[in-house]
Amino acid sequence: MKVLIIGSGGREHALAWKIAQSKLLKQLFCAPGNPGTAELAQNVALGVDDIGELVKFAKGESIGLTVVGPEAPLAEGIVDAFKAEGLNIFGPSAQAAKIEADKAFCKQLVRSASVPTAKARIFDDLDAARKYISSRDEALVVKASGLAAGKGVFLCSEPKEALAAAQKIMAEEAFGDAGRTIVVEEMLKGQEASILALVDGTNIYVLESSQDHKAIGDGDTGPNTGGMGAYSPAPVVSEEVMAQVVSDMLVPTVDAMNRAGTPYRGLLYAGIMITPAGPKLLEYNCRFGDPETQPLMVRLKSDLLAALLAVCRGELDKVDLEWDPRPALCVVMASGGYPGSYEKGKVIAGLDQAGKVEDTVVFQAGTALLDGELVTSGGRVLGVTSMGDDITQAKARAYEAVSKINFEAACYRRDISDKALSAPSSS
Ligand code: AMP
Ligand code: GLY
Repeated sequence: MKVLIIGSGGREHALAWKIAQSKLLKQLFCAPGNPGTAELAQNVALGVDDIGELVKFAKGESIGLTVVGPEAPLAEGIVDAFKAEGLNIFGPSAQAAKIEADKAFCKQLVRSASVPTAKARIFDDLDAARKYISSRDEALVVKASGLAAGKGVFLCSEPKEALAAAQKIMAEEAFGDAGRTIVVEEMLKGQEASILALVDGTNIYVLESSQDHKAIGDGDTGPNTGGMGAYSPAPVVSEEVMAQVVSDMLVPTVDAMNRAGTPYRGLLYAGIMITPAGPKLLEYNCRFGDPETQPLMVRLKSDLLAALLAVCRGELDKVDLEWDPRPALCVVMASGGYPGSYEKGKVIAGLDQAGKVEDTVVFQAGTALLDGELVTSGGRVLGVTSMGDDITQAKARAYEAVSKINFEAACYRRDISDKALSAPSSS
């Protein structure tokens, strides 16, 4: 079968790396891909939002399955457009993708399904939002309801900051239409974890747990990024927590989507906070996480392509995935200045040496080829991913590989996995 992966990040490189191992695969394409995916697939020079051209390409090549990486084309209706042409595609419809693309919709849905989540108010009027915020004296989180590339969430320790955030989102329109509506919610305390599940409309298969590191700096300091590293499994996700996430979040959510007439098919990613009162939902994403997918793919032993096809057929109940019990860890190497502005075009050296470290794969994200040389071309540049017999060994391997890679002003966190090592259930 021919497969097309849409996207160009570390997540898509990891999906391509895994799908390339499938016996069911005849030929792999990636649109637009990156120099890393080019080693496994044929890159196609089409943007992720070029839906009409992507449909044409998939028809012309008789693509048997298209796998969508990022949220934007899902929210734009890429799945609906492919299905209208009889093409097989993995991901939710535009209506179902609102679970990520419209935080107000998501909040109302999960509330109606009694999913444990932060208490929240939804506003589409700035004066009303101001009045409410001014009446509170606790820490608040202010969120643009629409897609804002991960930048539309403000953690405000005082109402003054929350007022400024509401002003920035609604009056200054910092995120355009995505900020017409805001969600103002209580700030939850605890450890975050990512629970990714395959969903075929009815059946749910939960992948192994993982944990991202959103802040740019060690010890979770500095501004939030797309994710600076991840590991799987996350020891903080005990069996009890996982069981609660399934029974109190995923099952009622999938049922509520069905009741609303918008069944969920694809990957459902629950971002959770493990609070003293149990796990609470922070958000849903309608796609694989990045960087979480990188450690997850190196641990997955079964055929991913077969599982994704089962989701599309509504036969997820027949799927059981085998996982390597060893932990895996991904350290993201980013361009200096990220998540703010950064320079591009820095020559990247040492990838071959890094890839020779035992049980290590270097996934590429913001990279490009310039006159035959690999250079930086984005904020998150590489995802250095290693497995080990335990998390300490996985960490040592990943950082050994990182030490072999060089590009000007490279920045990365030094503490990926320290939280796992300090978790009560880790050995
Ligand atoms: P979201 O896109 O809604 O997941 O928000 C992005 C990040 O902001 C999350 O991964 C958390 O780190 C943080 N966050 C969001 N909502 C809350 C909340 N209610 N309490 C504490 N932190 C939050
Ligand atoms: N790792 C965070 C995300 O994929 O949204």
